[in-house]
Formats: sequence, C-alpha cells, structure tokens
Amino acid sequence: MRSISLFSALAAASAVQAGTVQTRQTKITPVTAKGNAFYVGDQRFYVRGVDYQPGGSSANLDPLADADICRPDIEKFKKLGINVIRVYSTDNSKDHSTCMNLLADAGIYVVLDANNPLYSINREKPAPSYNAEYLQSVFATIDEFGKYDNTMAFFSGNEVIHDLVETTRAARFVKAVTRDMRQYIRTRFNRPILVGYSAADVQENRMQTAAYFNCGTEDERSDFFAFNDYSWCTSDFITSGWDKKVQNFTDYGLPIFLSEYGCIQNKRDFGEIAALMSPNMTSVYSGGLMYEYTYEENKFGIVTIADKAQKGPRTELDEFDAFAKAMSNFPAPTGSGGASATTHSVPCPTKDKHWDVDSTLLPAMPEGAKKYLTDGAGKGPGLNGPGSQNSGPPEVEDAAPGSGAVAGGGNKQNAATKGRMDNAPLLVSGAVLMVTLLGAIAL
Ligand SMILES: *[C@@H]1O[C@H](CO)[C@@H](O)[C@H](O)[C@H]1NC(C)=O
Ligand SMILES: *[C@@H]1O[C@H](CO)[C@@H](O)[C@H](O)[C@H]1NC(C)=O
Repeated sequence: MRSISLFSALAAASAVQAGTVQTRQTKITPVTAKGNAFYVGDQRFYVRGVDYQPGGSSANLDPLADADICRPDIEKFKKLGINVIRVYSTDNSKDHSTCMNLLADAGIYVVLDANNPLYSINREKPAPSYNAEYLQSVFATIDEFGKYDNTMAFFSGNEVIHDLVETTRAARFVKAVTRDMRQYIRTRFNRPILVGYSAADVQENRMQTAAYFNCGTEDERSDFFAFNDYSWCTSDFITSGWDKKVQNFTDYGLPIFLSEYGCIQNKRDFGEIAALMSPNMTSVYSGGLMYEYTYEENKFGIVTIADKAQKGPRTELDEFDAFAKAMSNFPAPTGSGGASATTHSVPCPTKDKHWDVDSTLLPAMPEGAKKYLTDGAGKGPGLNGPGSQNSGPPEVEDAAPGSGAVAGGGNKQNAATKGRMDNAPLLVSGAVLMVTLLGAIAL
C-alpha cells in the first residue's frame, strides 16, 4: 500500500466448533489453484480487481462489516466489471454476512490481509511478535471469512520485507505464518482457501522473496505469490520492464498476480490491463489488483467518498471511466492462456548483500497456538484489542521441515499440488518504499 509520507518503522469470530468443518454460506464456486494458475471449476480464473480500503490505511476501518459502506461500492464494482477486491483491514470480531453475500451475488471474490496493525509480525523484532495471541487473531480472521465461498485467498503478510536488508530477517516468520495458516485451513475447512505473501515493489529482493516462499517442503510453501508493482507509468510492456519480469518469473511453479499495480506519474490509462490479459503475460501472471478504488491523500483512487465515515455519496473521477473502459476492452482470455498444469518448488535463495537469511528452517508454531487447530480460534480480538506484537518470547525454536505435514489433510489443494519437483531459476524498482500503516502491517 502506498502512503504519501514515510512512516519509518511504525513498529509498529465467529466461534468454530471443535472438529468440524465450516459450512458454506454463499453460492459461488470457490477459486482453486492448480499448476501456476487459478481456476473456477475448469475455467482459468484471472484476478481483475481493485484494492479497496475506504479511508486509507490510517482509518483502519473494516468496509466489509458495514453494509452502508460496502453496498454503494459494490454497485460501482459491478459497473467496473471487476471480479476480486482486496481488503487490508477487516475486523474478526464482527459479522460480514451482508457484504460478503452482496459481493458473492455480484460474482466478486475477496482477498484479505490476515494481519492488522495490532496483530502482525513486527519486521524489526519478529520473534516476540510471532506468538499464540497473534495466531489466534489470524485464525479468527480465517474462521470469520473462510465460511464464505467467495473468500479466494488470505495474505499471510504484506510488505513485511522491504528495501532494507535487515527486514529480510523477518521472512522466516512470515513464512512460518503462511505454513500455520495453510495448516489451519487444511485442518478446519473442507475446501482449500489460498494463502500467500504480498511483496513490496523492491527490485533488490523481489526474486529472492519469491523463491523463498516457494522453496522447501510442501507444508512450508505458499499457494501463490503476489507482489506490488508501480513501474508501468502509462508506458508499455517493454518500457515498464514488465517483459523482463515475465522472463524472470517464467517457470516459477506457482500462480502469480499483482497485489497492487498503478502509477500516477502520467494520466492513467490502465494499459496494464491490456498487457496482463495478453499472451505476453498470461502464461506466467494471473491478473492483478489496481491500486486503488478510493481516492485518498496519496491520490491513487478513482472514486471519492464525501465523508469520513465513508458512507456518503460516491463520485467517480475521470479515471473511473478509463478503468472501466480498459476492463471491458481487455476481457479475460479464454482457454488456458499458456498456463502450466504442474506446480513445483524452486531452490531456496542463498544469503547475499540483499538477502540476510541463511537458514531454511522455520520457527516452530508456538505451543500455545496448537490448540486452535483442534478447537478453533474462538472469538477474534478485532481491530482494537490489546495487541500481540510483544506477547511472545524473545527467541523461538525451529521446526523440522514437514512437521506441519500435509499428508492426509484431505484438502484438494494438496492433491493438486502433489508431485512438485524442484528446479527453476529465479530473480527483483524500486522507489524507496513507503512503509505503510496497513500495508506493512507487519510494521
Ligand atoms: C506484447 O509484447 C510486444 C513486444 O514483444 C509489444 O510490442 C506489445 O505491445 C505487447 N502487448 C501488450 C498488449 O502489451
Ligand atoms: C531478472 O533476473 C536477473 C538475473 O537474476 C536480475 O539481474 C534482474 O534484476 C531481474 N529483473 C527483474 C526486472 O526482476
């Protein structure tokens, strides 16, 4: 998430019954991952969406908990023709049925950040922030949203790793969280819900980050990789350097999409969509999310909302129309788009001046969190709980790879990803990235 100012180092449920799986509450076919692409049924699925956080990161407001907020926006989403929204801030102590059902009725899936400013991995001091209270909040978010079939995916972290090499040391913790979330979903739900990391737009470590989240044992890997990309400034496929990224991510082995795209240096024409939907990219990328829907201080949005409570009239800016046109001119291609049918891992990145991680071992799930796997997470603390960033011990033990074993999980995702093999090379503009309140939530 883009903020206008540099917030340097801002350090900063519905009850689940034991042993049961969640019931489905909406009538929309869930999105699955197979090979390096997403599917709805047999049809390849492309993310054609927007990032949606009315009030911006600083408001830290859950737009899906209040129909007076989401309802008018869902009407706009229909007009835009989008199929996915990403929401950074959700409150796991609240009910989301009205907004989630309205979204499902509109054919719209959601991708959610499982963290929030108080419950997140702290990139400066990751070990104490990885603890049972934290995971309880993450799991409560999964419980609250996993029951809706239009919940496509969760982000296990957003921009935790940054342009400073020190921040790469937090990668082990975010990967452990990814593992724990996937294990929780396998254990508690009767359908796969995808989990992956949303990486910052940092050239120096993007490829290493991508490799890191797709290396090691099956239980430790992600279901997809997503990154933020602000390099297409009303230019073209070559000038933006997107051609090189496609080359570098070829044969990555997992689905990839842009969790944020957008550059406002020149008047936006959203040419990114033409490229994302073209054969130049579809064999490697599965679409992306335009940053962003509401116009905030950082000036990226396409709709203004009149009031602070985010319930007032919505006004479409010129870019709204430009975005809607690009969406209708460049529909999702039919057929496979050149996707590969098999998934595989890649070698773990080695330590260098941009990547300060020398162990492939991950921290073990905190003892106190294991009970959630059998009992469910219980009620979530919401966005205003006591917080968890300093609740854990200063050091964490490592886990044996494979200890969050996937065998017998009964999750179709596992069947689909069986037989992964290692191989493949890898590789990452970066403007100095803004730490964002919500974005990095990992702060
Ligand atoms: C696809 O790539 C070619 C260069 O190989 C470029 O000329 C063309 O504009 C690209 N298409 C899109 C839709 O970006
Ligand atoms: C692509 O990979 C090469 C080799 O690893 C690297 O030098 C380059 O920076 C990467 N380019 C992009 C755009 O990621």
